[in-house]
Amino acid sequence: MRVSKRLEQLYAIGGGPGANRPHGRAEEDAAHEFAGGWMKEAGLAVEVDQSGNLLGRSPVGADVWVGSHLDTVPRGGRFDGALGVVAGIEAVERVGCGAVVVFRGEEVGCIGSRALVVRGGPLPRAFLELHIEQGPVLERAGAPVGVVTSIVGYARGELLFEGRAGHAGTTPMDVRDDALVAAAEAILQVREAAVRIDGAVATVGQLAVEPGGSNVIPERVRISVDARAPHARRLDELIAAIGFEPVHRTPPSAMAEEPRRILLEEIVSRGLPAIELPSGAGHDAGILAAAGVPSAMLFVRSLNGGLSHSPDELSSEEDIELAVDVLADALRRLASAA
Ligand code: GLV
Ligand code: MN
Ligand code: MN
Repeated sequence: MRVSKRLEQLYAIGGGPGANRPHGRAEEDAAHEFAGGWMKEAGLAVEVDQSGNLLGRSPVGADVWVGSHLDTVPRGGRFDGALGVVAGIEAVERVGCGAVVVFRGEEVGCIGSRALVVRGGPLPRAFLELHIEQGPVLERAGAPVGVVTSIVGYARGELLFEGRAGHAGTTPMDVRDDALVAAAEAILQVREAAVRIDGAVATVGQLAVEPGGSNVIPERVRISVDARAPHARRLDELIAAIGFEPVHRTPPSAMAEEPRRILLEEIVSRGLPAIELPSGAGHDAGILAAAGVPSAMLFVRSLNGGLSHSPDELSSEEDIELAVDVLADALRRLASAA
């Protein structure tokens, strides 16, 4: 299948293990080069906006967009983002209408889609994002695809701890001011804060220790904080409980009624179960939705228990083929409804 072949080409860019195309590096650019080439092969008019987002327009209904992102987390999976781009090109080429977009820097705070909505556009009339589920719901339900109801609200930032550097062998324990010990306590509090709020999750995924010698008491530590909750009020509570100042923050966003209904109708008309589910991952569709663009997401079943942000992330060729079909027909309907 052409989709799988293209996913392999993208996966090979970073050299492995896993997909390695971090935002702002040559690997993300190389992936955009591939996508731009495929768009041209499909006869689309290709543009790059001032944030580096890529848009391939067909001559008809190009104000309805499909797409996703090509940057990845370190050691990410084959499908996260890339599937929505490759499937989007396929869908636009097949139906001969709409446009496909590739956003920059989704994994580091949806930089490209945020820049687009802050600039004020031009924004699409509707946006559809196909994405691997990244969770176990569809696999458990025995359903190949599902439609997203809403996207989680999330906030990212960091906490800084300052102590005093000193000799690891000669400084008695009772006079130390160890920044990493303070950070370790805070990390446990981040976890506790999330556990106490219904539906909330919080993660410390980065830790930077200075000066970083194994025989030096840590003087300065920076930890990242990623905090998420399905309701705005609970996200506020979580941020307050952790006690950090978000660098950016995205409210929970509901998907739009019309494109959601069209996706569901396309699923049901194929004799498949009508599964609707919330997204615990952030997506560019959430940024567009928050800016007032009617947006919807089609999830493809994740195998391997829903493992994602991991090289073991997996969806089957059959499920992907079906999802591309649903996406293409939904795009056709949306783009022809002027
Ligand atoms: C995007 O993958 C996210 O962090 O939710
Ligand atoms: Mn991701
Ligand atoms: Mn993604």
